[in-house]
Order: sequence, then structure tokens, then C-alpha cells
Amino acid sequence: MAAPGQNMRVNADRLWDSLMDMAKIGPGVAGGNNRQTLTDADAEGRKLFQSWCEAAGLTMGVDKMGNMFMTRPGTDPDALPVYVGSHLDTQPTGGKYDGVLGVLAGLEVIRSMNDLNIKTKHPIVVVNWTNEEGARFAPAMLASGVFAGIHSIDYAYDRKDMEGLRFGDELARIGWIGDEEVGARKMHAYFEYHIEQGPILEAEDKQIGVVTHCQGLWWLEFTLTGKEAHTGSTPMNMRVNAGLAMARIMEMTQAIAMENQPGCVAGVGQVKFSPNSRNVLPGTVVFTIDLRSPDQTKLDGMRARIEKEAAAIAEVLGVGCSVEAVGHFDPVTFDPTLVSAVRKAAEDLGYSHMNLISGAGHDACWAAKVAPATMVMCPCVGGLSHNEAEEISKDWAGAGCDVLLRAVVETAGIVE
Ligand code: GLV
Ligand code: MN
Ligand code: MN
Repeated sequence: MAAPGQNMRVNADRLWDSLMDMAKIGPGVAGGNNRQTLTDADAEGRKLFQSWCEAAGLTMGVDKMGNMFMTRPGTDPDALPVYVGSHLDTQPTGGKYDGVLGVLAGLEVIRSMNDLNIKTKHPIVVVNWTNEEGARFAPAMLASGVFAGIHSIDYAYDRKDMEGLRFGDELARIGWIGDEEVGARKMHAYFEYHIEQGPILEAEDKQIGVVTHCQGLWWLEFTLTGKEAHTGSTPMNMRVNAGLAMARIMEMTQAIAMENQPGCVAGVGQVKFSPNSRNVLPGTVVFTIDLRSPDQTKLDGMRARIEKEAAAIAEVLGVGCSVEAVGHFDPVTFDPTLVSAVRKAAEDLGYSHMNLISGAGHDACWAAKVAPATMVMCPCVGGLSHNEAEEISKDWAGAGCDVLLRAVVETAGIVE
């Protein structure tokens, strides 16, 4: 006779249909999504997720950061819950799967457990973390960071978007400030399922990424101050050009990253020229460097070098230069017991798998500060993510969700 749960599989069609239904909310301009955090579209997506969870018998709790916790009870009233989830917010030109897959796969785990009449000792909580992306309000993983005690709630509420709107005001505006204290919940374990967002699994022809680590990150926001002046009539030797300083710092960052290969990445994703007019030399340039490495020494060494060389570049040009760290986490090692549970689930299911280091940041990185945590990954086409053309197949999505179901049920303790 098969052991309990031996033939457990999720319903990949149902998972896929839910992904496609969620993707109708906050459509992008090129087939993906723009459902940025704390927008009306975010509120609509949350409502849809809530209705699906309640139909699956889950009970909702919401904390003061708008994190949504949907609970399926366990049989032991004293057992801490196993958490599973990710984020429903997207980049401004995001895909349909980054984050959303992890949340809806958590729901699919519950729906499948309901279908299969599986009971567990520990409750299971499906979570949607607020503002993982950090696209609208830096830093990324903001609400899981408050949950883990990394940021204060006042710091989080005071984050401003490019229009100067405050995080706290926007959370209130969309109606998702809950009553729970942030971080009051305790976790038995935390699982997050995510698309790889890189090319390795597809290139290696593997279905499952067993995520052992996540690389660390610094987001450095530079403010360069030059002198606004006419681009036509100001002689070249009289310019104090903040834009030129930005270009040289960008080039220097690329060179430092290349010197540190393999094992680190750095680039500029956001630049704001002021006044941003064709025939005005920019008086102010604000831009961010995103710098990452799984190696702590490399990560911090590169940060120090970039800051030092940027100051020297600006000085030569007579440009003012200040820098603020607007995002940071150290490299993360995930919990070996949970990592083994994921690997074993993949093996039991006959899915090909390999170890991975996550290149992207995830809420799991902060959850790992307060609980045993790990991740499961599936491939994505061409490794493309943070792009509306981000794509995965239904089979890939389903295989990772099968692994998630098994690992979660095993960790939550199946009750016969
Ligand atoms: C989060 O999406 C990141 O930038 O890694
Ligand atoms: Mn994500
Ligand atoms: Mn993302």
C-alpha cells in the first residue's frame, strides 16, 4: 500500500488558470503586468486572492504592513504554522509569474490538500508580502523586512515613491492596513516558490532548482550636484556636468564588476536627470547602483571601492557627490533540513533537479532571519525576468508546485 501522501500531485491546470486570471488585473503594455505595490490594481489583485482563499476555507489575517496571512488550521492547536508564499506586486513592466507564482502555488497547495483530504499537525499559512519589488518604494522586500525586525514600521511608512507619495498613506488609501502587529507571528518554517529569473535551469535542462543560498545586495543611491546651464552656449571648460559624472561612475561600476568575475554583478537601473531637458546640462542627477554577490567580502569590498572611486570621479569634475544605501541584505544560507526536504521531494517525484544560488532577492531572505526557510525554483524561458515577456510553461509551474506540496506537507506533519 502506498504511504500517506505518496501520490500527491497538484492540479497544474487550476494553478495555471489562476495565474492567467490574476494577470488580467493590472495588465502591462506588452503582455505582462503593471501591478505595482499599493496601486488600485494591487488592491484589486489582493481582493481576488482573498476571495479564492476564502473559497478554499482559509481565514485571513492582515498586519499593519498589509501583509496577508491566509490560514488552514492544523490538528495540534499548539503547533506553529508552516508559511508558504511570495508577493503579488510586480515591476512597472513586470511578468505574470515573478512573485505571483509563489503566492498562487501556495493556494494551489491548499486546494490540492483539500481535494486529497490531507490533514497536517501544523497549520499552513499562505502569505502575500507587501512591496517585495521595491520598484515604487525602495527598498525591496520592505514588508517582510519589517516582519523580520530589520526595518521599523515608521521607516517603512515614510518611504516615498518618485511622486513623493508616502508608503503609509498609500497603504491606507487602498484600504489594506490591518490590525496585527507586524512580526508578532512565529513560524515553524517558511517556503517560497519562485521562477528562477536566470538562465541556469533551462540551460541545464532541469525542472527544479533546490535553492541553497541567496546572494547579498547593496542598493546605493547617488546624488550628483552640478550646475544647470545652457548646453549650447556654455563652453566645455566651464561646465559642471553632473550627467558626465554619472556616466563615468556607471562605466567604473561596470569595470569593477568585470574585475570581480565570476560571482558578482552590478549595474544602474534607475536614473533621474533634473531638469531633464534636451538643452539644459543637468544640475542634479540621482541614480542607483544595484550591486550583488554571494560572497560577503566581495560584496562589501566592491561597495567600498565604488563609493571611493565615485567620489574621486565627481571631484575631478567639480561635481558634488553624496551616497545613501537604500537597500541591503547580506548573503543568505537557507535551512539545510528544509533544503533537504525540497531535494527529497523532487527525487521522490522523479523530477530532475540541481542546487541553485538565487540571484534575485526574495522575502525568503528576511524570513530566514526569523525561521528556518528555503525556496523552490522552476525554469523561465531564456532566463528573462523583470520584463513583460517573462514566460514559463504550465508543466514547469506544476512540477515546482508538486515539489512545494510535498515539502510543505512533510514539514507540516501529515496526520493519518
Ligand atoms: C527583487 O525583485 C530583486 O530585485 O531581486
Ligand atoms: Mn519576485
Ligand atoms: Mn521581482
